[in-house]
Amino acid sequence: MPSDQKPGIRPVRGKQVLVEAPAKVNLGLKILGRRADGYHDLDTVFQAVSLTDTLVLSERPSEAAEPGGAVHLTDEGLRLEVRSPWPVPCDDSNLAVRAARAFAGREGRSLEGLGLRIEKRIPPGGGLAGGSADAAGTLVGLAALWGLDASPQGLHDLGLGLGSDVPFCLMGGTARGLGRGEILTPVARKLEFWMTMVNPGTILKTSKAFAAFDPARHGRAGDLSRLVEALEEARPEPFVQSLGNTFEECLEGVFPLMRRLKDQLIEAGCSASLLSGSGATIWGLAWTEQQAREAAAVLRPHYPFVHAVRPIPFGPMVRMKL
Ligand code: C5P
Repeated sequence: MPSDQKPGIRPVRGKQVLVEAPAKVNLGLKILGRRADGYHDLDTVFQAVSLTDTLVLSERPSEAAEPGGAVHLTDEGLRLEVRSPWPVPCDDSNLAVRAARAFAGREGRSLEGLGLRIEKRIPPGGGLAGGSADAAGTLVGLAALWGLDASPQGLHDLGLGLGSDVPFCLMGGTARGLGRGEILTPVARKLEFWMTMVNPGTILKTSKAFAAFDPARHGRAGDLSRLVEALEEARPEPFVQSLGNTFEECLEGVFPLMRRLKDQLIEAGCSASLLSGSGATIWGLAWTEQQAREAAAVLRPHYPFVHAVRPIPFGPMVRMKL
């Protein structure tokens, strides 16, 4: 036995990077109009929150899957492992795999022998950018593993190629987004608050929600400049007054549970409630952790996903590098 492998001590494995990839909510969202390329122009305020997926990238992944995990080996030798309470694709269509592939292609690197483990806590199809968070986390994690530029600017174009929300997921914190949501201006948020998130288990497809947009009828809700000002100047009242999301108008007849959930959050003590992105997650505004947790406790027996979260001033965090 070599002298550095004493009984009971595991030999040192390859490098490992753990990334916490935050979900986002939209504090405000206005659909401005349909574009010639099939996308819609938006004006939105994104906020990163304390609900995260955990990603572990390893140079030499262990062969044994964690209990409850699904495993997939891609053609290029990347070993994907997904642990999730919800059905999430554990195959080449997973946005994290597509991110890894795009990054490796750009950098002329190989994914052979790499492991990517994803622990899902962000519900998919919930308007919380769960898939985009995983894509952003994968880019940041690979950059850390390979010693490359991990800045949101350096990864922006690659991110946008994967999805409209990925550039914000790389940046994190609070930001106003124009265009598809990728023309980002950071917001120096001083207003402090908590949120109670509820997802009824409904999966709403983003493209379908956008298809329900009728420019003649929808898009009046919310004043985004006033919202940003309220966040920067820590003014609760104008903040509450300027909350709005065009998707609430678009989905009125499509997602009838939305109105009920919004009302229930208010009845449970929240000071306002709003749909996040294209849904189906609704968040309730709370001024204290206690208010958020009490509202969560009221709703938890009735819905599969209820969480008290707070806004965070950063994006994907590399937590460990061995
Ligand atoms: O960019 P992403 O792949 O996340 O978008 C999914 C779908 O949502 C697009 O194919 C498009 O139908 C719609 N979308 C849009 N306008 C945006 C963002 C997304 O119409 N700004």
